[in-house]
Amino acid sequence: MTVRIAINGFGRIGRMTFRQLYSLAEFEIAAINDIVSPDLSAYLLKFDTTQGKFDLADYVDSGDNYISVDDIKIPFFQEQDASRLPWKNLNIDIVLECSGAYLSKEKSQAHLAAGAKHVVISAPAGTDIPTIVFGVNENTLSTEDKIISGASCSTNALAPMVKILNDYATIKSGMMLVVHGYTSTQMLLDNAQKKGNFRRSRAAADNIIPTTAEAAKAVGRVIPELNGKLFGSAVRVPVPVGCLITFTAVVMGSNITANDINKTMKSSATEIFGYTEEEYVSSDIVGNTFASIFDSSQTLVSKISNNEYQVRIAAWFDNENSFVSQLVRLIQYYSNL
Ligand SMILES: NC(=O)c1ccc[n+]([C@@H]2O[C@H](COP(=O)([O-])OP(=O)(O)OC[C@H]3O[C@@H](n4cnc5c(N)ncnc54)[C@H](OP(=O)(O)O)[C@@H]3O)[C@@H](O)[C@H]2O)c1
Repeated sequence: MTVRIAINGFGRIGRMTFRQLYSLAEFEIAAINDIVSPDLSAYLLKFDTTQGKFDLADYVDSGDNYISVDDIKIPFFQEQDASRLPWKNLNIDIVLECSGAYLSKEKSQAHLAAGAKHVVISAPAGTDIPTIVFGVNENTLSTEDKIISGASCSTNALAPMVKILNDYATIKSGMMLVVHGYTSTQMLLDNAQKKGNFRRSRAAADNIIPTTAEAAKAVGRVIPELNGKLFGSAVRVPVPVGCLITFTAVVMGSNITANDINKTMKSSATEIFGYTEEEYVSSDIVGNTFASIFDSSQTLVSKISNNEYQVRIAAWFDNENSFVSQLVRLIQYYSNL
């Protein structure tokens, strides 16, 4: 049986998730909801500056209340209040909440009230729902969980790498810094940002902009033994997509070397966590499907005492496509529970 999906919020993450889900036979995209019109949404689905043209671009079309790809028509709604969406009539199994407007259990309840069976939020959304990074803690999910969060792109990038490091040498404390491409939460030119954030009100393509990031703290929700030990922040930089995440930690162990850490990371590589010895720059990782790709050239180790070391490790990720790939893996797992 196909899983019927509704995408709420057809922005960067909503559209990129559409692209991946569309090619998977087990899913049917049964509805889309956004504030913008179907014709503009169809246009933005076809063409994309950072991720390239949609493979099926020649077959994307739109009407008053639908967009179509190939000969499949997908109902399109322009409803700001999720509780008024016809999820019950459309028999929606999972709402992918990608609008950024329903970032809590309480707010996302609106989709359940509208008749959807489950909600997956594409962002951190509080401690009263499960926060899941696929490949790290999806086995904590149960069929009782109706609203879940797929965490943030940075948490998805950080958690697999931190888990491997912590299994190798116990982490006492850690600090993350994400060097992050700009996103729609920033302004193109200096102007008041919607949420009144000062630095995000400054021209995104012209500045290095320090900002907050909950990603490191959120790793504690995913790997409970690290709860309270990790902190971090981000700097937004003038690239439209692509991130480098660095993690500096004090770890317990003996004879820790950069070479050993790299070997451990390499042998732990999977389809979720990549490993490279290539001389990547950010544009090289755009469009990849790993949660993150460990960059062995960035590993540093400094000895503090016989059983304590300071280490710095780093990984690349595409804040859009890496994250969306993780979200799709999560939905596949969740819908098979
Ligand atoms: N972009 C990333 O790198 C990234 C990575 C991981 C997670 N996320 C998270 O994913 C979510 C979406 O991010 P995004 O970058 O895709 O944002 P985005 O490009 O701004 O897309 C959000 C879309 O939802 C629409 N929208 C706003 N309120 C709505 C409502 N009440 N009902 C339906 N649609 C509504 C927006 O319309 P308007 O533009 O008219 O408001 C916009 O088209 C955020 O929570 C973000 O934190 C983003």
